[in-house]
Amino acid sequence: MIVLKVDPLNPELDVIKRAAKVIREGGLVAFPTETVYGLGANAFDPIAATKVFKAKRRPMDNPLIVHIADMEQLYDVAKDVPDEILDLCQRVWPGPLTLVLKKAEGVPLETTGGLNTVAVRMPAHPVALQLIRESGVPIGAPSANLAGRPSPTLAEHVIQDLGDSVDVILDGGETFFGVESTIINATVSPPVLLRPGPLTVEELRQLVGEIVIPKELLEGSEFKEALAPGMKYRHYAPNKRLYIARRTEEFVPTLEVLRKRMKVAALCSEETCREVHDPKIILGTRENLYSVARNLFKSFRLLDQLDVDVGLMEPFPERGVGLAIMNRARKASGNSVISLEEAERFAKDQ
Ligand code: TXA
Ligand code: MG
Repeated sequence: MIVLKVDPLNPELDVIKRAAKVIREGGLVAFPTETVYGLGANAFDPIAATKVFKAKRRPMDNPLIVHIADMEQLYDVAKDVPDEILDLCQRVWPGPLTLVLKKAEGVPLETTGGLNTVAVRMPAHPVALQLIRESGVPIGAPSANLAGRPSPTLAEHVIQDLGDSVDVILDGGETFFGVESTIINATVSPPVLLRPGPLTVEELRQLVGEIVIPKELLEGSEFKEALAPGMKYRHYAPNKRLYIARRTEEFVPTLEVLRKRMKVAALCSEETCREVHDPKIILGTRENLYSVARNLFKSFRLLDQLDVDVGLMEPFPERGVGLAIMNRARKASGNSVISLEEAERFAKDQ
């Protein structure tokens, strides 16, 4: 494995060319995007795509996202793109939106996990865009973490998880949004939200009008059936158990009750963190939930390094990017939302 530093805004061409050569030769390159780091391979090469699954220990039926650098490339990977969706792409890309579309013949089933649809996005990151351009092929890439672990927002997370199973890691510093792209299924009308992300439902509605939000993605619902293939697997999880407080007002009292019985790290907003003792991890400010999104996965990884039994996270409103934050948090916690009353009962039983 080689780690190459790269300027995120003005990527050095020689560095990008070196990484692009690895992609063309069927190797694996981890690279920054505006959301999280991706683990990339030539999307047209079934053997290279298979290597991605092996490196991540990812189930073969959980497809990759195909990353493109310009609109012409869209037609190399997808077909029958509806007009309103084309219009959406033109307005949002490059940006954190992934569209599930009908697959073009050239994309092997290894890349799409056996599906006849393909997930496509044009990332808004100079390193990712240049890498795709210099490679001359679309790049299939899931997040560059081990399956089930929090997605990487720093090159060191990729090194920790994947190490020598990657050929090159392009280290472009911390990623911008910190949660993965919004995914919508655009093969149906109206489109269906498959994964909430940095491009919010509110913004999508303004762009395309109606969009269906499955109830599984909303507050408190259990995940019964997987919406996208990747959603049935436990995700984003720290090794330590994570709980989410049921209500914002209950966070501090719940923390106090649990702390009578065990060592608990508080994961909370800057505002709430002022009221609690260490160990605590500041997630960001309630005034701007994008700051929380940005620190979320890093905080899950940090939790594992603290000398605590469990983590307790403050809940955030499920509006705007808050929907993505809570979606990832619920998955990371295995849906362990705890009320003050449950915490009190638990503390008594111990
Ligand atoms: O922001 C992102 O989307 C990052 C960066 C690297 O671009 N990528 C990413 O990929 O997060 P990841 O690890 O989430 O994997 C791709 C996701 C999976 O959840 C998969 O189920 C979904 O995309 N997906 C891919 N192809 C699909 C398809 N044909 N139909 C439905 N879902 C699909
Ligand atoms: Mg992932």
